[in-house]
Amino acid sequence: MNTSTYRPHINGARPHFPCRVLLLLLVFVFAGGAQAQGPKATIRFNSTTRVFRIDTPRTSYIMGINEANEVQNLYWGGRLPDSDQFAAAKSMPGAASFDPPMTTTPVEYAGWGGMLYVEPSLKVSFPDGNRDLVLQYVSHKIDGDQLSIVMKDISREVYVTLYYRPDGETGILRRSAEVENRTDTAITIEQVSAATWNLPRGTDYRLRYLTGRWAGEWTVQEQPVHPGKTVLESRRGTTGAQNNPWFAIDYEGENDSERGGVWFGGLGWSGSWQISVEQDMLQQVRVNGGPNSFDFAYHLPKGGKFGTPAFCAGYSDQGIGGASRLLHRYEIDTLLPGAPKPKLRPVLYNSWEATGFDVNEVGQMALAEKAASIGIERFVMDDGWFGQRKDDRAGLGDWYVNSQKFPHGLKPLIEKVHSLGMDFGLWVEPEMVNPDSDLYHKHPDWVLNFTGRPRTEGRNQLVLNLARPDVRAYVYEFLDKLLTENDIAFLKWDYNRNWSEPGWPAAPLDEQKDVYVDFIHNLYGILAELKAKHPNVEIESCSGGGSRVDLGIMHLTDEVWPSDNTDAYDRLSIQNGFTYAYAPGVMMAWVTDSPSWANQRSLSLEYRFLSSMQGSLGIGSNLNKWSSEDFATAKKMIGQYKTVRETVQRGELYRLITPEHGSEQSVTESVARDGHEAVVFAFLHSSNELYPYPRVHLEGLDRNANYRIEVLDGRVSGETPSRASGAYWMDRGIDLDLQGDFRAMAFRVERVNANQ
Ligand code: GLA
Repeated sequence: MNTSTYRPHINGARPHFPCRVLLLLLVFVFAGGAQAQGPKATIRFNSTTRVFRIDTPRTSYIMGINEANEVQNLYWGGRLPDSDQFAAAKSMPGAASFDPPMTTTPVEYAGWGGMLYVEPSLKVSFPDGNRDLVLQYVSHKIDGDQLSIVMKDISREVYVTLYYRPDGETGILRRSAEVENRTDTAITIEQVSAATWNLPRGTDYRLRYLTGRWAGEWTVQEQPVHPGKTVLESRRGTTGAQNNPWFAIDYEGENDSERGGVWFGGLGWSGSWQISVEQDMLQQVRVNGGPNSFDFAYHLPKGGKFGTPAFCAGYSDQGIGGASRLLHRYEIDTLLPGAPKPKLRPVLYNSWEATGFDVNEVGQMALAEKAASIGIERFVMDDGWFGQRKDDRAGLGDWYVNSQKFPHGLKPLIEKVHSLGMDFGLWVEPEMVNPDSDLYHKHPDWVLNFTGRPRTEGRNQLVLNLARPDVRAYVYEFLDKLLTENDIAFLKWDYNRNWSEPGWPAAPLDEQKDVYVDFIHNLYGILAELKAKHPNVEIESCSGGGSRVDLGIMHLTDEVWPSDNTDAYDRLSIQNGFTYAYAPGVMMAWVTDSPSWANQRSLSLEYRFLSSMQGSLGIGSNLNKWSSEDFATAKKMIGQYKTVRETVQRGELYRLITPEHGSEQSVTESVARDGHEAVVFAFLHSSNELYPYPRVHLEGLDRNANYRIEVLDGRVSGETPSRASGAYWMDRGIDLDLQGDFRAMAFRVERVNANQ
């Protein structure tokens, strides 16, 4: 990641051209990223056949330059031996004048022009009225683990460079594109993809994707891929919980969760986005993804370059479970801050559900003492500490410490938290402003708006136009000051509404829609600069619930908040869906009070802990109301979590029984990377008609090794041996003693030497 400093111009208009080009280059979305030490990928080009081969130990991705000079996909799937040779690419024969080769040939990146009738990768318009763009191969470069292919329009000086970076360990390929305008006028980009992925021709495909709403995020949807197009998208200015930018496609008839081929991917973009899955008239499937083309326009000046976000995709032959594990590994080893060794998540306490906006020095200190007594490692003060913030109607934007609540500033609280052996975290919502704030009174023009039109409020707040250089500077400077003046280890970065009236009146007319891109680039730029200047500060991406979780924000933040719904039973489904795309290690999961505010459901403290221990454990309960037994239970379970957290946060996740389709049970297993242990969490909604709990068959163990079982909470059946082979735990399986309603248990198996 390039973290060089971009100096903005301090006003609401666009910086003049050279700075804009610089800006675009600086924030080229996760162009960098760590490379884990592991198996290598190879990239080769056969100059006789003009065929490219990108091989990893698990996958092969093969393309050729055809007779029309298009770059055409030839194969994407499991690893093929080197001895398999591919003939030169040949475009598909046209079926009729209606279905021409330009439309039916599975090209890597198509301009909208000629007879292209499927979703284009790029659509531009020129000031002379021309909107035709036909891209052809010009040259390529293999530079270590990166292949770049340069393409150009057949007559105009518009260049597109396609980037391919394979990860040897997972086989995941990171693709992005850069559009360069070498004509002598500005052009407008009307639609742009990071990549187009072509799947092998097939008729039995099933698409999985993730949908949701506030407090009900991460539902896994499944549907057959039919002729025509399915569009997953957000038009909200941000990632959104309603669709998440992730897809997985497998063979409906043949696969189960741990077997069969799956093509999957995630788009790294935190603004409005779209992923389309299209089956064409020849039953070929292609997946296109990038910023949403709805209401989109990007002004690319003469000499300007536009770098797309990255679209990362892979192939697994181990079903959807294998696909998730590859993505998790990729995120941990190459994407997250600190990759390939991102820090383990500390157990945190957050005051939000205990105190709401009613925070003050005395109250927070009292909670901190109680939190420290159960083994909490990070104490986080949530909303309410700044400006005139008493509720959600006022104060956002005024980032000074409220002197009634904290007469001596934040320092005494921070020192107290440190003296208790914890580090300190703070809630912020930098991109928002309440109309009832000093900031808004001073700068009413700083919000997204159309002149003379309503400014629609959500949660009584408006969205600051972060695309404006002055707003960007304000946000960066207050955060930098906060982190410089206070010993803060962690920011919970919130974003509690979506956009409305996305206008930028201060920008020239033909640049106003650039807000969709520049806002996100500035967000990434601020995060990157803060990380560079304050390298020990960790950041959580929170947006009400999981409304800003994607591979783009994950490159710059250490953890994410999946949902405001903290009911431990609802969380089983929410967390299950989340882990299809994202690693359990970044998934914050708090233990909160019972009955839950969300649905009035009552659950035991043990159940609530075991649900949260499937991710990164936090506590959000009102500790002032806890009994001494509650403190003892919490202390014990936090201690247990710490012993298994590396396996849960970094391990290989197997969904042994998913809570989907109304299942009464849910079981997850995390296997340590080095295989030394596996940790299992099992949940029962209700037992029925004397049926026993289904036998649990572990996965991912060494068949020939021996493992000792240790029950962390709950009971296994009396016949369970204290130790047995991996084969036994996987093939014979284990019976759990779970009966009743809302019951949970956890155990681990640990590898032992033959003579232990
Ligand atoms: C959002 C977050 C909550 C809390 C509140 C504070 O809803 O998701 O966890 O921080 O904002 O206002």
